[in-house]
Amino acid sequence: MPATLVVGAQWGDEGKGKVIDVLTAEADVVVRYQGGSNAGHTVVVGAETYVLHLIPSGMLYPGKMNVIGNGVVVDPARLVEEIDTFKARGIDVESRLLLSDLAHVTLPYHKRLDEAREAKRGSDKIGTTHQGIGPTYSDKYGRVGIKVGDLADEADFTEKVRRNLEEKNAFFREYYHAPEMSMEEVLGPYRAYWPRLKGLVRNTIPYLRDELKAGKRILLEGAQGTLLDVDFGTYPYVSASHPTAGGSSAGSGIPPRAIVRVVGVVKAYTTRVGAGPLPTELPAEEQERLRMVGREYGATTGRARRCGWFDAVVVRRAVDVNGLTEVAVTKLDILDHLDEVPVCVAYRYRGQELTEFPTRTEVVAECEPVYRMLPGWKSPTSGIRRWADLPANAKGYIETLQSLMGVTVSIVSIGPRRDEIIRV
Ligand code: GDP
Ligand code: IMO
Ligand code: MG
Repeated sequence: MPATLVVGAQWGDEGKGKVIDVLTAEADVVVRYQGGSNAGHTVVVGAETYVLHLIPSGMLYPGKMNVIGNGVVVDPARLVEEIDTFKARGIDVESRLLLSDLAHVTLPYHKRLDEAREAKRGSDKIGTTHQGIGPTYSDKYGRVGIKVGDLADEADFTEKVRRNLEEKNAFFREYYHAPEMSMEEVLGPYRAYWPRLKGLVRNTIPYLRDELKAGKRILLEGAQGTLLDVDFGTYPYVSASHPTAGGSSAGSGIPPRAIVRVVGVVKAYTTRVGAGPLPTELPAEEQERLRMVGREYGATTGRARRCGWFDAVVVRRAVDVNGLTEVAVTKLDILDHLDEVPVCVAYRYRGQELTEFPTRTEVVAECEPVYRMLPGWKSPTSGIRRWADLPANAKGYIETLQSLMGVTVSIVSIGPRRDEIIRV
């Protein structure tokens, strides 16, 4: 059975958790393939709201398997905490969760390094989530990372930590003027985590191969979004991984040719947390209004999200690099009250009109949006379940996005709950 990929088409927080939850009904296994506890994916089932950070968003569907793939960076402290949070809410996670032995581990020194680097950048900070994501991936690619599988051998793990800590402490001491870390600060908690996690650890490559062969339906869950991709995003104001389609294969071991359906999740407007250009960003007051209606506060850090109108130049970049086969538009209901809805169709840059997202972040930062004004629909959409019942101007809005993106919209989300969905 071919695999389906769900990927964020903007700067993260597009509503991937909600879309994954909906699509899990038609899947058997949900796989996270990159990022770590920087992600915050919200799933609302009935009156209950769950925010998932490392655990795949398929967990709220009984009977579905969930895999944390090799491309994810895993903070064992956060994973254990998340498992316990689910347990306390009466959901058994451990029997339906597998953790790749190849996934790299985030340790306390990664988090401290993340914080120290951000502090050092001063006003030029990236605005990271302080979850140690960048430093963990740096160690992975620097060939000094520690993998989940390494936790099994305490002597080996201790030696690897000792080697790494020597280097990190030199940085803390000499360069960042931050407190050094002792071996015990790192090792102490981990002696407790391994017994908790070892039952979940697996070579997930043959597991996923066999599931695919057996005709099981696999759903790949992207974290972050295309414009936070370390290559395709607004570097350096990005995360340290590949949320894009290419990363889904590398981060799971599922071959690219098995991934035939690629669903881009697109918010009906645009948000971004942290620093970096956001061409359609609204003036403070208007931004605040959209933020209030859309409840745009980070699911992981609680930070206010920056808000702007829909940006077709951004989403076309996502269409291109992910090969989107369809789009799920979320949060249409947040625009219900507007008289007119602006949509950015191109950028103006030093007198020129650009329709391609620029490769240089400095150029993006100078771009002014070119807007097309669309009529609002001025009526609530959250209660609607059929495309035919949407107000004409709401349909017109979605159809305009569709033609600007060049990809079919298959799902429209009109509320946070599982049932607040329209299949087009
Ligand atoms: P993710 O990181 O892409 O999974 O998105 P987040 O969970 O960080 O942020 C999306 C927020 O929007 C969450 O609070 C969701 O519950 C909420 N949400 C998702 N879809 C809709 C929708 O169609 N309408 C409304 N009003 N809220 C939505
Ligand atoms: P989900 O999966 C929105 C942003 C941070 C920061 C930059 C780098 O919920 O969509 P990092 O801690 O990754 O080194 O931070 O990336 N960022 C996100 N923004 N949604 C996310 O995840 C994000 N994960 C990281 O705000 O600007
Ligand atoms: Mg989020």
